[in-house]
Amino acid sequence: MRTFKTVVVTGGAGFIGSNLIHYLFERPDFDGRIVNLDALTYAGNLESLADIQQKHGGSRYFFEKVDICDRNAVERIFDAYCPDAICHLAAESHVDRSILGPEAFIRTNVMGTFTLLDVARGAWSGRTDVLFHHVSTDEVFGSLGETGCFTELTPYDPRSPYSASKASSDHLVQAYHHTYGLPITLSNCSNNYGPYQFPEKLIPVMILNMLEGKPLPVYGDGKNIRDWLYVEDHNSAVWTVMTSGRVGQTYNIGGENEWENIRLLDCLIGLVAEESGKDVSALRSLITYVKDRPGHDRRYAIDCSKLKRELGWKQSLGFDEGLRRTVRWYLDNPAWIARVRSGEYRTWMERNYGSR
Ligand code: NAD
Ligand code: TYD
Repeated sequence: MRTFKTVVVTGGAGFIGSNLIHYLFERPDFDGRIVNLDALTYAGNLESLADIQQKHGGSRYFFEKVDICDRNAVERIFDAYCPDAICHLAAESHVDRSILGPEAFIRTNVMGTFTLLDVARGAWSGRTDVLFHHVSTDEVFGSLGETGCFTELTPYDPRSPYSASKASSDHLVQAYHHTYGLPITLSNCSNNYGPYQFPEKLIPVMILNMLEGKPLPVYGDGKNIRDWLYVEDHNSAVWTVMTSGRVGQTYNIGGENEWENIRLLDCLIGLVAEESGKDVSALRSLITYVKDRPGHDRRYAIDCSKLKRELGWKQSLGFDEGLRRTVRWYLDNPAWIARVRSGEYRTWMERNYGSR
């Protein structure tokens, strides 16, 4: 099993990254340092890590406000901290935004990943006791029909600017391994949910709109299918791959938990009603079918049997319990919600969608 002294987590102030940093500091077998490298875009929020900063700041936890496209700044991080692992999560991550403004996705996801890879190659020149782990998405595989699952051998077929930019970054990561021998691992995961998720993705949008009595916007016919995984289970899988995965390999990560959006919403309505005391039929009346997302992928489903078989990973949390924890977290954290909605995101939403 690999161990690491200093792990650079890019995008550590985002949803999955902040959960990963919490997860690692809770692991009794992790005694290394974490350097959180994040540009703090609209999606990055250091309040998600206030407890970590307080407990480990300056000793085992360091934050660096750095844009991954800034080569000099990334080189400075390598010089200052001499990391032996990178877990690369920093990205523009929302499909709807990529449709309205693809350029930022190409810049961060493609050029930013390239910059990180190239600096790592130079700094690590030929070392084999280091690792670049790239966190990617199942969306690179395209859209499924009614049956079947994505495996690691499914051909890439990205269909949104977001998934095309992630596919491109995946190819660069593989290319740096094959061409330069950079030790890499790669994971492609299905839809995550849980605490600290920015309220532009389905589950937090729906929970917050329910709490505020706003319409619940369902795209198209509501029958698109996603495979949902609790964020902590994603992070346990990422750590399993980083510590035990075969170098150069890709591992699919998934929940084996497919839901039509409209069925998921029905389940969420029941949980929000139970946890908040709101009336179920009043919440149901908020459901509003809206214009479909252009090029909306119909179905995603992940076959994660390679990860289970080779590395012994498994999901730990049932969907009902994971959703309930998530609902409670949003109910208990109004200050975090107000903070992430106070800035650039609100302006962007109003410009593009009105004030829904
Ligand atoms: P997020 O949008 O919540 O967070 C992204 C973070 O990256 C933010 O903190 C942001 O400030 C930072 N960032 C953006 N551009 C940057 C730049 N140029 N330089 C440095 N930092 C920058 O995203 P997330 O949902 O936490 O996703 C993290 C990663 O996981 C992404 O690579 C995404 O593609 C992948 N992924 C996400 C999901 C999901 O369901 N959310 C599923 C599979 C894979
Ligand atoms: P999303 O959370 O944006 O993740 P992704 O598009 O990366 O899978 O969306 C999940 C599903 O929910 C997707 O089919 C689009 C749909 N959706 C809605 O119906 N309404 C919404 O307001 C949002 C944000 C998503």
